[in-house]
Amino acid sequence: MSDDKDETKTGKPDASGSVLTKDTTADGDVLLKVTGLQKHFPIRKGLLQRQTGAVRAVDGIDFEVRKGETLGVVGESGCGKSTMGRLITRLLEPSGGTVEFQGKDITHLGTGDLRPMRRDVQMIFQDPYSSLNPRHTIGTIVGAPFKLQGVDPEGGVKKEVQRLLSVVGLNPEHYNRYPHEFSGGQRQRIGIARALALNPKLVVADEPVSALDVSIQAQVVNLLDDLQDELGLTYVIIAHDLSVVRHVSDRIAVMYLGKIVELAERDQLYRSPMHPYSKALLSAVPIPDPKRRGVKSERILLKGDVPSPIAPPSGCRFHTRCWKATEICKTTEPPLVELRAGQQVACHHPENFEDQQPQDTKLLSSAHEAAEENTTSAVEK
Ligand SMILES: Nc1ncnc2c1ncn2[C@@H]1O[C@H](COP(=O)(O)OP(=O)(O)OP(=O)(O)O)[C@@H](O)[C@H]1O
Ligand code: SF4
Ligand SMILES: [Mg+2]
Repeated sequence: MSDDKDETKTGKPDASGSVLTKDTTADGDVLLKVTGLQKHFPIRKGLLQRQTGAVRAVDGIDFEVRKGETLGVVGESGCGKSTMGRLITRLLEPSGGTVEFQGKDITHLGTGDLRPMRRDVQMIFQDPYSSLNPRHTIGTIVGAPFKLQGVDPEGGVKKEVQRLLSVVGLNPEHYNRYPHEFSGGQRQRIGIARALALNPKLVVADEPVSALDVSIQAQVVNLLDDLQDELGLTYVIIAHDLSVVRHVSDRIAVMYLGKIVELAERDQLYRSPMHPYSKALLSAVPIPDPKRRGVKSERILLKGDVPSPIAPPSGCRFHTRCWKATEICKTTEPPLVELRAGQQVACHHPENFEDQQPQDTKLLSSAHEAAEENTTSAVEK
């Protein structure tokens, strides 16, 4: 899926004339670049609404999205995936760090200056029920982006909307129907048609299939995949389940408590994850290969809930749940570094790789507990 099907490298205006800047970066194939990105939601209390703390939803992350690729983003509930998605689409303003789109810094652009970028970056939401206005027809919903951006498609809005409906596998004759007349999967197709209306470059899909029946999840994922090939789209697909992004992602970022803990080529991550948290997430994914079905599964059950992002643990944020945690994990935050080509990891004692802190061998009590927990659960099975 990461074929180079890009026509915008030279920074020439596209058909809609919406290119923001020339792509002057040496990295011509980087569409989006995020550096030190943060979103802290203030917590205010009392009559004076004084700020007493902050929810550190996204707490310093760096990554790039390359043209034509699909970057999968996974992690447990509350780890900051949706906040990250809303930051890179600039539905939210970052509290720290920078977001560059096509080489242009868009971190703090105001509504007016964001307008051209709004065409190029679209979002698909999780819930196809609440994200479509029940009082509007499908035609109005899918045609809304043209009105908002003042774009007059060739042949008129109605014709273009009908074309979009057929692109996503819906009957163009259903133009005048209302959202309640469609199933969940069809509604998500409507959301996709709306996102594609302005011919975007980047589509950020926040859990696009989690609200759907398992039986139709694959259809919608396959549709996204086909559309990417046909339209040369770049995707960021957010999911809490590694099995959803497995087939469509070129690279995967694993998030934990506002941080990226591992960012790797898809196959490398599945074959040999290096962060203990990635390993635990992967152990929960069913093995699709029938030859390996009989292989003893080593499911790693993580103990406890994700700690609060208001007061994240010191050092490595995963140390309260990690079975390998030692003293240094509690005191020193491991940086995200490329330990293997195409695989960045933030861990002092990575899996499937040489230990980064071999001198530090004294396990923390939390690690003892986590290890015990896993032994017990293995026995239970
Ligand atoms: N507007 C807001 N104000 C305050 N806190 C917020 C706000 N939006 C999100 N949060 C908090 O930020 C953290 C990250 O939330 P976010 O929705 O980004 O997580 P997520 O990974 O998308 O979770 P899920 O898998 O449940 O969708 C959570 O603790 C959440 O409660
Ligand atoms: S070994 Fe240490 S650094 Fe690595 S994930 Fe566990 S707690 Fe974090
Ligand atoms: Mg979310």
